Amino acid sequence: MAKLIMILSLVAHSCAMAMAFDPSPLQDFCVADTTSPVLVNGHACMDPKFVQPAHFSFSGLHVAGNTSNRFGSVVTPVNVAQIPGLNTLGISLARIDYAAWGVLSPHIHPRATEILTVLEGTLEVGFVTSNPENRFISKVLQKGDVFVFPVGLVHYQRNVGYGSAVSISALSSQNPGVITVANAVFGSNLPLPADMLAKAFQVDKIVVDNLQVIF
Ligand SMILES: *[C@@H]1O[C@H](CO)[C@@H](O)[C@H](O)[C@H]1NC(C)=O
Repeated sequence: MAKLIMILSLVAHSCAMAMAFDPSPLQDFCVADTTSPVLVNGHACMDPKFVQPAHFSFSGLHVAGNTSNRFGSVVTPVNVAQIPGLNTLGISLARIDYAAWGVLSPHIHPRATEILTVLEGTLEVGFVTSNPENRFISKVLQKGDVFVFPVGLVHYQRNVGYGSAVSISALSSQNPGVITVANAVFGSNLPLPADMLAKAFQVDKIVVDNLQVIF
């Protein structure tokens, strides 16, 4: 009996750990069938006999994104939405282009650790640890340098050079998700109560009103 309880608690423990990340494959592949009415965690599998090489492929990551926006950065994602064959495999990629002094605003990937390398230019990158330390860990990266953003932590990238910059990231989820802090806090649909945000951020409500207009 004691042995059974021990085994059950081990199983429960290992399930809890596995559930925290993308599921492990139980077959060679499970190409996403995005038309399936079946709702599962991720996507239902396409019938393997209809699977084609294109389901494992994406082209265009050599093409620079258009950074003509107010932040001066743009992300080209390559996740399960672009490559259905990534379904259940727990990995994805992104190209990020930065105009001179462009910023990829503080954001969180709720489901992925990110490992980034600089292909061109000079990037300042950083993340902030959780409460209560809220330690800011930051570095300036040159071409060929690599940096890691641990899963769930707020992080950002900024081009601190006078030319454009390019980076490539790998992420430990087929669907990492992005929560841009400013959008979530000041640009939600419907808006969060401005008086609550004024108290939370310890600023006058007019400051919150302005931020809510911008985001
Ligand atoms: C880049 O985006 C801007 C703003 O949306 C647009 O005006 C411009 O034509 C785009 N440039 C290219 C090369 O697509």
